[in-house]
Amino acid sequence: MTMGRKILLDVDTGNDDAILLAMMLAAEDIDVVGITTVAGNSTLTNTTQNTLSVLELLDRTDVPVAKGAERPFVRDHCGAEWVHGENGLRGDLPGPTPSPVDQTAMEFICEQVATHGTDLTIAAVGPLTNIALAIANRLTLPDEIDELYLMGGAAHTHGNTTPVAEFNFWGDPEAASRVMQDGFPRMVGLDVTNQATVLPEFVDKLEDAAPPLTTVAQWFDYPDELMKVEYGTTVPAIHDGVVGADIIGNVLEYESYYVEVDTTDGPSRGAVICDVLEIMETEVNVVSEDRNHLSPTGYVAESIDIDHFREIISETIFSYN
Ligand code: BDR
Ligand code: CA
Repeated sequence: MTMGRKILLDVDTGNDDAILLAMMLAAEDIDVVGITTVAGNSTLTNTTQNTLSVLELLDRTDVPVAKGAERPFVRDHCGAEWVHGENGLRGDLPGPTPSPVDQTAMEFICEQVATHGTDLTIAAVGPLTNIALAIANRLTLPDEIDELYLMGGAAHTHGNTTPVAEFNFWGDPEAASRVMQDGFPRMVGLDVTNQATVLPEFVDKLEDAAPPLTTVAQWFDYPDELMKVEYGTTVPAIHDGVVGADIIGNVLEYESYYVEVDTTDGPSRGAVICDVLEIMETEVNVVSEDRNHLSPTGYVAESIDIDHFREIISETIFSYN
């Protein structure tokens, strides 16, 4: 096991979450201190079971897993099994698996923050329920850690769940709103992740490799109908893998903005309001010479180095060969 930058992963293990787990567990100089699970792509029972199965498959049952929220703060849970498969994850998964730890995700996250402080980076790639709960329980959390990365939102592009909202933000908009306002995160949204595909040759090579890569290959092979509409290909975008690639090898460029998430019901639920032109002011509707702009709430990923992203995926995934 490598010792390096300490990372806690918060996941709703579907296919791209599983790819992220495989990448982070293989990366040099990354030490995954634990994984917390949340309802998202499927039920909490399924996303937790999928996470444990991935650890079993990759022979990394030493990594602790803590179960988190069963549903969003306010809304009902709504999964994405139609994308990720009946149980939320494709492939022939092994059993029996280890068990989760007794702590809840919120307790586990807060404990890891207390233990590692500024050495810890948190990467959250599902609905943000666990992270918002942890911040509510420990208000100093954002200032205590190194970085908070999240996969979610669409700042300058359209959504993948509604015309304006991305799945993780739409799933728990109240949590997304709190984390975006209070967490000073690095938001890795559809603006960059929609471009994050791998080449068909890469998937062919994985399919021809030995276990566990034959199972991993199936995670790269889920249907992405929205990609077909937008890019004329069903090769899926590896959304959550982008967070991993950036932590491992800086593939993203960011800008800082003031950002809000829409928590109303109706067609704009979960939409990101990103103040690109700095036109939002502390006193709404007051136009004055001495304008008082709202300060940035975090960073938004603006562009991705796709070649570098593919190199990192290839290096980490083929290390299991
Ligand atoms: C996000 O939604 C989920 O289906 C994926 O795992 C990813 O985290 C993309 O919108
Ligand atoms: Ca996810």
